[in-house]
Amino acid sequence: MKEKMLQKFQELFGSEGEIKTYFAPGRVNLIGEHTDYNGGHVFPCALTIGTYAVARKNNDKTLRFYSMNFENIGTKISSIEELKYDKSENWINYPKAVIWAMKEKGYNIDSGMDVVYYGNIPYGSGLSSSASIEVLTGFILKDLFNLDVDMTDIALIGQLAENKYVGVNCGIMDQFAIANGSKDCAIFLDTSNLKYEYAPVKLSNAKIVIMNTNKKRGLGDSKYNERRAECEEALKELQTKLDINSLGELTEEEFEANKDLIKSDIRQKRAKHAVYENQRTLKAVKALENNNIELLGKLMIASHDSLRDDYEVTGNELDTIVAESLKQDGVIGARMTGAGFGGCAVSIVENDKVDSFIENVGKEYKNKIGYEADFYVVEVGDGPKIL
Ligand code: GLA
Repeated sequence: MKEKMLQKFQELFGSEGEIKTYFAPGRVNLIGEHTDYNGGHVFPCALTIGTYAVARKNNDKTLRFYSMNFENIGTKISSIEELKYDKSENWINYPKAVIWAMKEKGYNIDSGMDVVYYGNIPYGSGLSSSASIEVLTGFILKDLFNLDVDMTDIALIGQLAENKYVGVNCGIMDQFAIANGSKDCAIFLDTSNLKYEYAPVKLSNAKIVIMNTNKKRGLGDSKYNERRAECEEALKELQTKLDINSLGELTEEEFEANKDLIKSDIRQKRAKHAVYENQRTLKAVKALENNNIELLGKLMIASHDSLRDDYEVTGNELDTIVAESLKQDGVIGARMTGAGFGGCAVSIVENDKVDSFIENVGKEYKNKIGYEADFYVVEVGDGPKIL
């Protein structure tokens, strides 16, 4: 792929100057869903699939971006002085957003660059293809412009880009997991203070299988912002009595004792999910540490149930694929992953049952939903790198 990309780059932008190749991963979240904007914990890992880029700094003030995934869009040119969101520009808003956010944070980007991107993360599937482009772009800027910015700052810049430029009020999980990925480890992150630890993903005789419902998120982003607002409102109601800064500070018992402060059933359910899911994440990290994969699997199943019944972000496709997974021999756990409303689910499946699992779930999903699902047996990979 590197060769093909270099060839494309030279064809489009010539071969002068220093041309470098970069990679940033996608991510899957094992557990801790919709907790990152509630001051809770998350437990994602970086994947070995992701986004590649060939890039070179140029001597004018022009950005030239091309994606081998969207060849029909061709090369898009913009000025570094004028970075405005433009819906018609599709994916190009993500790198533009990152350059905007870098400048907002005071980093000196004084000339343009030429970049060819190519990603092998299925687009719109909940494996963070957009955060991967954002973190990759931040990493390229750090390298080409010699910026003194660490990987956590790059993650925060990616989040700022998404929140203020693209308009999705996401938390920090995706950008953080991508920026700080580490081979064969999940990242146990406390989103209230960004402290994190690496936890080896030792699944003994099992593998992570990602199941793509192929239902694109669509309306998801507006629903995402709606869930976030509901949680913020519930927090305010709890704060009329409790001295807390986030829902992530509550145990299940504290929540149950005070939930009547939340004056709507819907908001009570949303807050319940945020509190219980955070506690499940703490338990899941311990379970993995103790090699108790069975318990990890049970917590994943409970996570899905809560996302379906209390947080209401699953939908028929995700519910069907998870329900069919749980009927199979050798499945240890399964749940939706990412924002929900479509996209992917993640499962843990015993090695020697992976083939039959994929075949059976694939068949049942197609029967019930009417189109195919895709399956990826994934490896946990590193964060961004120069190739
Ligand atoms: C999306 C967001 C994350 C997180 C998840 C849900 O992936 O970008 O910040 O909120 O949804 O856990």
